[in-house]
Amino acid sequence: MSVLPGRNHLNHLFQEHVTHSMALTESGFDLKLGQCCRHLQNYRRIMKQEAPSLALELGTGWYPIVPVGLALAGAAHIVTIDTTSLLSVERTEQALDFYATRWQSGRLREQLPGVCAERVDTLMGLVAERGSAGGAEDLLGRLGVRVLVGDARLCPLAQGCVDLFVSNNTLEHIPPQVLREIMIEFGRLAAPSAVMDHFVDLSDHYAHFDSKITPFNYLHYADPVWWLFNNRLQYQSRLRASDYRTIMEEAGFRITAEEREYGDAGELARTQLARRFQPYRTEDLLVLRTWLTALARSTATAPNAPSPLTDGSATTHHRKH
Ligand SMILES: C[S@@+](CC[C@H](N)C(=O)[O-])C[C@H]1O[C@@H](n2cnc3c(N)ncnc32)[C@H](O)[C@@H]1O
Repeated sequence: MSVLPGRNHLNHLFQEHVTHSMALTESGFDLKLGQCCRHLQNYRRIMKQEAPSLALELGTGWYPIVPVGLALAGAAHIVTIDTTSLLSVERTEQALDFYATRWQSGRLREQLPGVCAERVDTLMGLVAERGSAGGAEDLLGRLGVRVLVGDARLCPLAQGCVDLFVSNNTLEHIPPQVLREIMIEFGRLAAPSAVMDHFVDLSDHYAHFDSKITPFNYLHYADPVWWLFNNRLQYQSRLRASDYRTIMEEAGFRITAEEREYGDAGELARTQLARRFQPYRTEDLLVLRTWLTALARSTATAPNAPSPLTDGSATTHHRKH
């Protein structure tokens, strides 16, 4: 399917009508809301401010849960960018409905600390007026969220305007050279006090639905063989945790925290590694999920910037599962 024209549309139809994996579930919503919260927590911990003036999300995807969460938590402006336009009015309304229901039940206050009453009023208004706004962009625009369809290597935004960069389940789908260029673009966009916060899933995504393979399975294949399995709908770069750190640091960011989740050492030991992965340290290869927080280099001199000695600089929190 990934080589056909209109691959995204076909994939959408397939997921909606065959695998039924498109529907927004309670657990799917909670997962993304949790990611949004974690971005905010990391931002607040470092910047000692409630919410950024301008947050940029890389990789919008199908449901705008993270940008809406950032808006409800008081971020003045949010830009979300994706090369592919995957949002629809229906899916945007579904995400807003979930937020509205959580608000009405009282759960949103605990799930999204710092939720801003004024933005919730706008949200409730949008839910009540369901169907009257134009497209997903109009709906989201009323919450301060601007949707950009384009390549994040070239964001049509002014230099130094972004306070917080976030992404979830996205960096692993970007080819290394493109990612390097995106990080350089983020360096251009970064305000002096900018924070970057990325959640990366480093597991073999085919293992998400094929129980016969392990999350390390794709490390077995040499590049030309992997090229045959890899596909344009869900490209996987196979970069490891240390590669992301290097790319961010080379673009001028300083990693201040990393929380890792490790896979099963026995499963990795049973994986015959392709030559490309043999030089990596076992601890690096074992990482299946990582949460990377970084600061733009100039942050060190910003008025509210934490001292490099007190911000948990280069702390690595290890959580095994
Ligand atoms: C797997 S989706 C994740 C979407 C969403 N963040 C989520 O958690 O559901 C990754 C997204 O990144 C987008 N993407 C990949 N390369 C990009 C680039 N260079 N610029 C902007 N978006 C990009 C893809 O189009 C895709 O929608």
